[in-house]
Amino acid sequence: MIRYFKVYDFKQHGNEPQQLNTTRTIDIEGKRICLARTATGYYAVDDKCPHAGAHLGRGGWCEDEFVVCPVHRYKYNLKTGQGKQGDYIKPYLVQMRADGVYIGIEKKWWQIW
Ligand code: FES
Repeated sequence: MIRYFKVYDFKQHGNEPQQLNTTRTIDIEGKRICLARTATGYYAVDDKCPHAGAHLGRGGWCEDEFVVCPVHRYKYNLKTGQGKQGDYIKPYLVQMRADGVYIGIEKKWWQIW
């Protein structure tokens, strides 16, 4: 089961709430998620860099379809999570709806909402 959380409301934040090729860290239900915006849209991945734990959403940036870690500049594909170094970060579902941007978080049936 996937639950979607609104992270931008177009009425409240405007139609372009995040600058192109930027990232930011968002906390959803205790999960640290990096929200990135590229020329092709919004993407969400784990915020914790697998190399040494830096926040990808705090000082990171986007190059084409990759997020670049601000500490040692490792790069991760925003669609697949695959790192250019052979490691991996978890991607999350993102939906653009008429009223805003949503991130989907998978929950197991036994987890309490
Ligand atoms: S902490 Fe991200 S590349 Fe080293």
